[in-house]
Amino acid sequence: MKKAFIKSYGCQMNVYDSGRMADVVAEQGYSETATAEDADLIILNTCHIREKAAEKVYSELGRLRALKRDRAEAGIDTTIVVAGCVAQAEGREIIRRAPVVDAVVGPGSYHRLPDLIEQAQARRKGVDAEFDQVEKFAALPRPDASRIRSRGVSAFVTVQEGCDKFCSFCVVPYTRGGELSRPVAAVLDEARAVLEAGVREITLIGQNVNAYHGEGPDGRTWSLGDLIRAVADLPGVARIRYTTSHPRDMSDDLVAAHAEIPSLMPYLHLPVQAGADRVLKAMNRRHTADEYRRLIESIRAARPDIALSSDFIVGFPGETDSEFEDTLRIAAEIGFASSFSFKYSPRPGTPAADIGDQVPETLKSERLQRLQAQLEHDRQAFNRATVGQVLEVLVEKEGRHPGQLNGKTPYLQQVQVTGAAAQPGELVTVRVTGTAPNSLFAEAVEPMRAGSPLVAAA
Ligand code: 5AD
Ligand code: SF4
Repeated sequence: MKKAFIKSYGCQMNVYDSGRMADVVAEQGYSETATAEDADLIILNTCHIREKAAEKVYSELGRLRALKRDRAEAGIDTTIVVAGCVAQAEGREIIRRAPVVDAVVGPGSYHRLPDLIEQAQARRKGVDAEFDQVEKFAALPRPDASRIRSRGVSAFVTVQEGCDKFCSFCVVPYTRGGELSRPVAAVLDEARAVLEAGVREITLIGQNVNAYHGEGPDGRTWSLGDLIRAVADLPGVARIRYTTSHPRDMSDDLVAAHAEIPSLMPYLHLPVQAGADRVLKAMNRRHTADEYRRLIESIRAARPDIALSSDFIVGFPGETDSEFEDTLRIAAEIGFASSFSFKYSPRPGTPAADIGDQVPETLKSERLQRLQAQLEHDRQAFNRATVGQVLEVLVEKEGRHPGQLNGKTPYLQQVQVTGAAAQPGELVTVRVTGTAPNSLFAEAVEPMRAGSPLVAAA
């Protein structure tokens, strides 16, 4: 049997897409392998969000050139495909720069991957970078639910793709196209299939997931809040999450869902990016720092224990010392449970790349270090605050030591549990006993009684 190796870079959307590509090429007779060395087909599912991410792809292609040559000397063909956002952004340029590549396919065209592979194997290199999302979702094979379950008790389900926000630093609207929501029925169908296969946690994903506005079975347009309520009613679902959200699309209805739906986890990734209004405006984020603060207040009013997470960019063109201090201040004020922070990276074709007034690299590094120290402090503080709490943990796998289980808290903290006998996919009630740098320790306790304040709040 032929083998395919698919490597994902970047975001969760790419992880999901890689799975869908695995299903597509399975129909052509490829089974998945975990190493490039024994693969007849190699797909790099690339990320273009920052320059470093894109450069990684070219260095990987350099390594694959040697691999392909060695295999060719042994008389075996290797087909190399570049997919994802670099494929979309650079198209044929990739084949020019790295002739080892046989085909290039953008995120809107994965349903045509089999044709491209066949052409490539007939020595006709192809590039497909059309935006055909509607057609794509209709044409892709149904996700193989058992493959998804074999990867764990959590699954991603894509509900929308693309973005209409046009933040001035971001390539997404160009590499993923405009915002497109999948119909409710298609999303629920997919969710039902993975739940039937034993998945317990569903993360609804999209580049701008809370902008979701899909066609409902009742002919109405459904919001993300409506969709979450319907997913919560599916048999077998223990936990629901969603990511990534934009502050402007955080509707009252979605905030209310956090108060009303027990299976909607108290965790929200809501990037603020920066803390100074001038920078937020130049980023075209369409909200001020105070609007963000007020939004967080209303979310915390609905769900007081919610864990918040954010993305930050330091060194946006023209960012002054005092504007950077504003970013530090908003981070400290809100106290994020987890964060991602980056140096601004000019992306060709985006408006911010033409602003000029770039912040020097050394200053960007200095600011990033200071911000990361703050964010790490806040993350540890959040983790310490859960010590002593009684929480439910979704068991993912056996722990490192006998009698230990690994899983996640509602706040997405990795936790090692002792004293419980449970299978992956089960919920166990634990008391958190301590923290390690990247996880918590906990011991199993008797399940919480229905009607106890903790159960009511969760
Ligand atoms: N430079 C640095 N970081 C960026 N991000 C997006 N574009 C850029 C860029 N040009 C970050 C944002 C976004 C996250 C996914 O990546 O913080 O939320
Ligand atoms: Fe990019 Fe902004 Fe859209 Fe997020 S909301 S994908 S940062 S344009």
